[in-house]
Amino acid sequence: MKKILITGGAGFIGSHVVRRMVQKYPNYQIVNLDALTYAGNLENIADIEHEPNYTFVKGDIVDADFISALFRTHQFDGVIHLAAESHVDRSITDPLAFVKTNVIGTMNLLNAAKEIWKGNFEGKRFYHISTDEVYGTLGATGLFTETTPYDPNSPYSASKASSDHFVRAYGETYGLPYVITNCSNNYGPNHFPEKLIPLLINNILQNKPLPVYGDGKYTRDWLFVKDHAVAIDLVFHEGKNHETYNIGGFNEWQNIDLVRLLCRKMDSKLNQTEGTAEQLITFVKDRPGHDLRYAIDATKINRELGWKPSVTFEEGLEQTIDWYLQNKTWLENVTSGSYQKYYEKQYQ
Ligand code: NAD
Ligand code: DAU
Repeated sequence: MKKILITGGAGFIGSHVVRRMVQKYPNYQIVNLDALTYAGNLENIADIEHEPNYTFVKGDIVDADFISALFRTHQFDGVIHLAAESHVDRSITDPLAFVKTNVIGTMNLLNAAKEIWKGNFEGKRFYHISTDEVYGTLGATGLFTETTPYDPNSPYSASKASSDHFVRAYGETYGLPYVITNCSNNYGPNHFPEKLIPLLINNILQNKPLPVYGDGKYTRDWLFVKDHAVAIDLVFHEGKNHETYNIGGFNEWQNIDLVRLLCRKMDSKLNQTEGTAEQLITFVKDRPGHDLRYAIDATKINRELGWKPSVTFEEGLEQTIDWYLQNKTWLENVTSGSYQKYYEKQYQ
């Protein structure tokens, strides 16, 4: 019997990780801690909420006393830490929120783990989920490896880089058994429509402009979220302590090509004449400090743990679009209220 804390399990990636862990490991007790910010949504995990090995706790990782008490009560064996402020554009308008959750929140979890494990680390593990954005930007060639120097450019990536450094420092200084993974852009079901792919799907359904930042020639490496969840499960169980692993899709796309591909797929799904959605493409003001290109070299996790993406981009996009078309109520719920205000401010 293991007791595992998963933070941020009501969010996009976290919900897929929680479902996988609850269903695959009935002998584990999974506690999902989430503050239910604008990005957290219990609908994402409604299907597993009554499972006997699952507990949801609403709470804020920034609250040190609360976190400390939670760890003392539950005596966790492992932590899979996903809770974060995750959107680059929001970090540009409100950087401090990112320092609070991503840096202070991670510190609180590290301190609480250190406090209950008291140097007895047998069977214990702190797994910190991070991003490829900590490496900064690539030029036209090259890939991020685990030894690429950190060079973050946005307040979001600076806060994630800072938290990565603290995790590593707790490993070196106090011997805390940690693993870190740095992953590329995820896409798939339950993705909040502030991020590019679900924003485009939602706007096509609403017949609204499709905002493309700058000249659209920025490149991202896209990975289907369920493949990320598989990698997280594998690294949690089989990764080596004090190691980091890069995770990526081997799947680079310039934004404008991705937008056009999605437009064609949406036209076909909606039985529209080809070219209908593309007419909505609108080039808008660029994101300040916009990183030109991310691309992950995922050789290490492939070689050492045997992981590779299982879903092609074609299949993943199909599944993603179908999910949004079948879950219009989910989309309506998350785009009402504060989303409207966010959207107006961001895209006016
Ligand atoms: P998300 O924004 O969809 O979800 C974040 C979750 O954390 C939400 O459920 C939210 O309610 C919760 N949360 C936020 N602040 C909290 C706080 N103070 N206390 C407790 N819970 C809080 O994010 P995501 O896209 O699922 O990303 C999850 C993790 O993976 C993040 O750490 C992110 O940096 C990392 N990551 C994301 C991607 C990606 O493409 N989305 C890629 C690589 C790494
Ligand atoms: O690389 C991993 C990161 O991927 C994660 O750490 C972040 O949490 C996640 O949000 C994502 O960051 P990006 O900034 O790359 O994702 P986003 O979907 O916001 O943007 C993808 C690209 O599309 C980027 O080049 C900016 C561009 N873009 C985005 C939006 C929202 C547009 O052109 N128009 C838009 O409206």
